[in-house]
Amino acid sequence: MPHTPVWFMRQAGRSLPEYRKVREGTTMLEACTRPELVAEITLQPVRRYGVDAAIFFSDIVLPLKAIGVDLDIVPGVGPVMAEPVRRREQVDAIGVLTPDDVGYITEAIGLLTAELGGTPLIGFAGAPFTLASYLVEGGPSKNHEHTKALMYSDEHVWHALMSTLADISAAYLRVQVDAGASAVQLFDSWVGALSASDYQRYVMPHSQRILASLAETGVPRIHFGVNTGELLPLMRDAGADVVGVDYRLSLSDAATRVGDGVALQGNLDPAVIFSSPDAVRTRVDAVLDSASGLPGHVFNLGHGVLPTSDPEVLAAVVRQVHERTQH
Ligand code: CP3
Repeated sequence: MPHTPVWFMRQAGRSLPEYRKVREGTTMLEACTRPELVAEITLQPVRRYGVDAAIFFSDIVLPLKAIGVDLDIVPGVGPVMAEPVRRREQVDAIGVLTPDDVGYITEAIGLLTAELGGTPLIGFAGAPFTLASYLVEGGPSKNHEHTKALMYSDEHVWHALMSTLADISAAYLRVQVDAGASAVQLFDSWVGALSASDYQRYVMPHSQRILASLAETGVPRIHFGVNTGELLPLMRDAGADVVGVDYRLSLSDAATRVGDGVALQGNLDPAVIFSSPDAVRTRVDAVLDSASGLPGHVFNLGHGVLPTSDPEVLAAVVRQVHERTQH
């Protein structure tokens, strides 16, 4: 690549007027099952920004919905379960995911790889801890108290749940790679709620199994979470080729923590997009400065695009990253 690659988590979505337009009258989950709509929404930010990767438009809870877990995605709230999952029988009732459960995903990726030309398509899945949090809490949670209660109180049920979710995520990622995705990102958005020792005991073996299952495909594996400064070395050891870094830690400090041999992705604070043009430029430069000398850097935000972000500012960030890192 002639410059540092750049894409944005949540680059598709409510920040784009063209997204709001095509989503009118369709629920989020319905939209995810319509291949032509998925392809269109995935392509919108690629056309608008000239980003160096597309991220497949879907949601981390889609595979759960696809195998019959009763849930909805509530606008302005997020994924909400009809019933929280906290008992052994409920865990045992969660099935496995087969490619036939998500035929529309294979179809959408087929449409996309045809249209994207050389632009890579990033597939993704939720990591077991983050999915477990939605299932056990019943919806979005700040403190993850029921999730941790299950984890600490009944380790057998906890590992059974994590193992079931790992199977689902691994199968879901494999469907995407088999259909043509050229990289994958495992989103463990909420795992930063755990200490390193709890991560190692209760979570890491499961995320590791997912990432290992993809090794033979040869696609780069990105492993991302928020508030994970203390977990980064373990997240690398779980099998990442690229470690995603949120905005709480500089990329150079993150590199010291993860060591050589792994690329970093990140890490502009998504709130910076609301600042003056000069402030945005300075902050983008600071991220690039911090990344100079790394074995690999993928420019991104430290978390997803905020829905009220101005697309013009994101477009300017892409231009700046491309211009400044051209070689
Ligand atoms: O990044 C992209 O452009 C691809 C699309 C994508 C979505 N969700 C679309 C979406 C991705 C990668 C996700 C992953 C996801 N979903 C994560 C991990 C990433 C992260 O942000 O940490 C998480 C935690 C979820 C759960 C979830 N789904 C939340 C918190 C929300 C937002 C709720 C809201 O309305 O504020 C959703 C719904 C969702 N997923 C939307 C989009 C575009 C908004 C729904 C809409 O537009 O109607």
